[in-house]
Amino acid sequence: MAGTVTPQLEAYYAKRAREYERIYDKAERQDELAWLRDRLPGLFQGRRVLEVACGTGYWTQLIARKAAHVTACDINEAVLEIAREKPIPKGRVTFAKADAFAPGGLCEGCDAAFAGFWWSHVRKADLARWLASMASALPAGSLVAILDNRYVEGSSTPVSRRDAEGNTYQVRELLSGETHEVLKNFPTAAELADAVRPIAAQAHLEETLYYWLLVFRLK
Ligand SMILES: C[S@@+](CC[C@H](N)C(=O)[O-])C[C@H]1O[C@@H](n2cnc3c(N)ncnc32)[C@H](O)[C@@H]1O
Repeated sequence: MAGTVTPQLEAYYAKRAREYERIYDKAERQDELAWLRDRLPGLFQGRRVLEVACGTGYWTQLIARKAAHVTACDINEAVLEIAREKPIPKGRVTFAKADAFAPGGLCEGCDAAFAGFWWSHVRKADLARWLASMASALPAGSLVAILDNRYVEGSSTPVSRRDAEGNTYQVRELLSGETHEVLKNFPTAAELADAVRPIAAQAHLEETLYYWLLVFRLK
């Protein structure tokens, strides 16, 4: 495939790189974030993990505390630069610039995958292709955990429009005042179950007020 399917998203996150982690400072989300910071690393105990769209490495550094190794990828050098500055034991994480839609060959020997706040940015029409690409990059039985946002009135950025396919969008403002329209979907539990059915066994969804965490094994 020439180029990626997410050029506007890439540009937005390149510009947002240095201010990205402010999202983890929202006061009302602190209890749930603390729970996730505790919950996620344990899932990957001793595993070799492929992380797609790793961003600034916020979750990478935590997963790396328990995992045997993490190969953490993102399309943007600007966020990878920040991720590489995280206090991570030497040799535990390999950062790579790579498209989440083409993870094949990135992670020899991996038996797990993680994607944080990435699903919501994938167009509904592209979800099956993304999930299939991940399934084909890892052996059957691999553990997959996907974490993302639920929409919460008054805390989430309002949805500004919905397109003909049912994808929803937000208008986001950077500290510079520049605004970007960003695709951000908030799938229902039924939509999540339907989407992963072709590749997943033992799927289990945990929902809190602000987040959802879907964990399954690859068929
Ligand atoms: C919402 S951020 C999530 C970052 C990180 N996973 C976290 O939870 O903090 C989405 C990330 O997707 C990255 N991205 C956008 N398009 C991508 C693509 N096609 N392949 C891989 N990463 C992509 C952006 O650079 C950005 O870092």
